[in-house]
Amino acid sequence: MKVETILWLLGAGITGVLGLLVWLLLRWRVTASAQRAAPVRLGAQREIPPVLMPVALTRLGPYQIERELGRGSMGVVYQGYELDGGRAVALKTMALVNEFDEEALADARSRFFREAETAIRLQHVGIVKAYASGEDQDLAWIAMEYLSGQPLTQWTLPEQLLPLPDALMVVRLAALALDYAHRQHVVHRDIKPANLMYDPDTRKVKLTDFGVARLTDANRTRTGLVLGTPAFMSPEQLAGQHIDARSDLYSLGVTLYQLTTGHLPFMADSLGQLMYAITHESPQDPRIANPRLPAVLAEIILKAVQKDASMRFQNGAQFALALARLEVVLKGRTPHAKPA
Ligand SMILES: Nc1ncnc2c1ncn2[C@@H]1O[C@H](COP(=O)(O)OP(=O)(O)OP(=O)(O)O)[C@@H](O)[C@H]1O
Ligand SMILES: [Mg+2]
Repeated sequence: MKVETILWLLGAGITGVLGLLVWLLLRWRVTASAQRAAPVRLGAQREIPPVLMPVALTRLGPYQIERELGRGSMGVVYQGYELDGGRAVALKTMALVNEFDEEALADARSRFFREAETAIRLQHVGIVKAYASGEDQDLAWIAMEYLSGQPLTQWTLPEQLLPLPDALMVVRLAALALDYAHRQHVVHRDIKPANLMYDPDTRKVKLTDFGVARLTDANRTRTGLVLGTPAFMSPEQLAGQHIDARSDLYSLGVTLYQLTTGHLPFMADSLGQLMYAITHESPQDPRIANPRLPAVLAEIILKAVQKDASMRFQNGAQFALALARLEVVLKGRTPHAKPA
C-alpha cells in the first residue's frame, strides 16, 4: 500500500473518531440541559388554564380583604375591613357556582340570601352580629362582626379543658343565646364547639353561623353532601326528621359533654357505627371519662342528650337555669367564695 493511502486512511479514521466524539458531546449537552429544564414542567403548566390559577382575593363587595381566618365546610372565612368606615369584619364566603349545578343554583342563591337575612335579624349579645350579605367574583358572602377569641374546639382535649366553672358559664351563655333564637323561631342546626367562639380575656361567648348552617344541609350537587361530623347531631336530625329547638339543645349537651370530659358521648370506627350509636345506644356516663365531675353535672348532661326530645330540657332557659344552679353550688364550695 502506498504511503499516501495509509495517511489518507489514518486521517479519515481520526476525523471519524473526532466526529463521533463531537456528536456524543453535543448529545450529552442537549440531554443535560433538557434535564435541568425539567423542574419547570412546561408541559404541566400549559395544561392548567391560567384562569384556574389561584388569585389572591383583595376585595370583596365593599370590603378590603386582609387575611384568611380559617376554612370550614362552606368555604373560606376572611378578615376584612369596610372600605368606607374601616370597621373590621369577618367574611364568610361560599362559591355557590362551584357547589351547585345550574338547575339548583338559583334556589341555592335565594336560600343563601334568605338565611343571611335571618342571621342579620338576630340581635343578641351571645350571637355574632351579621351585617350584610352579597355576591362578588362568584363568591356569595356574609359580613359579620370580627370576633376576638377562639372556637371552643381549642378546649376539647382532655389535657386542655377549660376550668369547670368557665365551661359551665360558656355553655350557660350559649343556652341563653339559643333560647333567644328559638323564641324568634330560628333553629341553628349546627351547634358544636367550632361554632362557638370564646374569648377568655373578656369571658364573652358568641354563637356563629346562624342561618348559614341550613345551607350546608342542602344537597350540594357538585361537591356532594358535605356533612362534617354528625357527632353533635340529635337522633332526629340524623334521621332527617323535622327538628326543633330541642335538637339544638341536644347538640349543646354533646358540646358540654366534650368540654367537661375531653371526649364525645359516642365514638365509633365508622360513620355508620357512629350514626347507629347516636340513634340506639346509651351514652357513657361522663364521670367515667372525668371522675371529678359533680354528679349533678352528669345528670344535666345526660338529660340534655336524651334520645327522646320530650325527656330533654325543653328550652334554652331551662338548660341555662340548671347550669346556673350548679354554678352557685360550686361557688359556695370554693374557699374564696365563703364568708370570712
Ligand atoms: N366572626 C368571626 N370572627 C373571627 N373568626 C371567625 C369568625 N367566624 C369564623 N371565624 C374563623 O373561621 C374559622 C372557619 O369558620 P367556619 O364557620 O367556616 O368553619 P367551622 O365552623 O370550623 O366549620 P363548619 O363549616 O362546619 O361550620 C373558624 O374556626 C374561626 O377560626
Ligand atoms: Mg362555623
